[in-house]
Amino acid sequence: MKKRIAIFASGNGSNAEALMKRAVDLSRVEISFVLSDQPGAGVLTRAEKFGVKTYVVPKEALKAAQEKKVLALLEEHKIEWIFLAGYMRLLSADFLGKFAEMTGDSSRVVNIHPSLLPAYPGIDSIVRAYNDRVGESGVTLHFVDEGMDTGKMIRQERVTLGVNESLPEWQVRIHALEHQMYTDFLSSLEGK
Ligand code: GRF
Repeated sequence: MKKRIAIFASGNGSNAEALMKRAVDLSRVEISFVLSDQPGAGVLTRAEKFGVKTYVVPKEALKAAQEKKVLALLEEHKIEWIFLAGYMRLLSADFLGKFAEMTGDSSRVVNIHPSLLPAYPGIDSIVRAYNDRVGESGVTLHFVDEGMDTGKMIRQERVTLGVNESLPEWQVRIHALEHQMYTDFLSSLEGK
């Protein structure tokens, strides 16, 4: 039986696409669905291209109401892992607790972030690091808790900033590293 994974994403979806592409070659892992809170998100089109089911569960006045709908989908599809890929909502402790009960494991939600956490959490991390003229930044793969990019680190890799490197060039290299680290991790689930 394949391990069933859900990807949560709010935007463009390049990480989600890299994961879906890798999953095609994996025999013991499958992307069961992509969930977005944004009806127009680019990730939805990317998922359709791979024939992956999509769901949109928008933000509601009451966070718990939105999370209840998401939990119902996770239960219905017997999801074992959640991969966040540019999902712009924090998951509540209650949500994470309920998902941990469902899977019997409290370390089944992961995220990829384009900085050397704890430096530059939140949005626009690459631009902020670039504007600070840091000598290096990188990518962090981590477990998810209820904080903003605060969960336990799984793996971190560095990317130096070239003296004459432009922001777009640096962004391309950091995103490529994200895709590599996230798909490596997905592949590693084959053996778990
Ligand atoms: C990525 O940089 C990811 O690390 C961050 O949000 C961005 C999403 O990009 N959490 P994409 O939608 O995967 O292209």
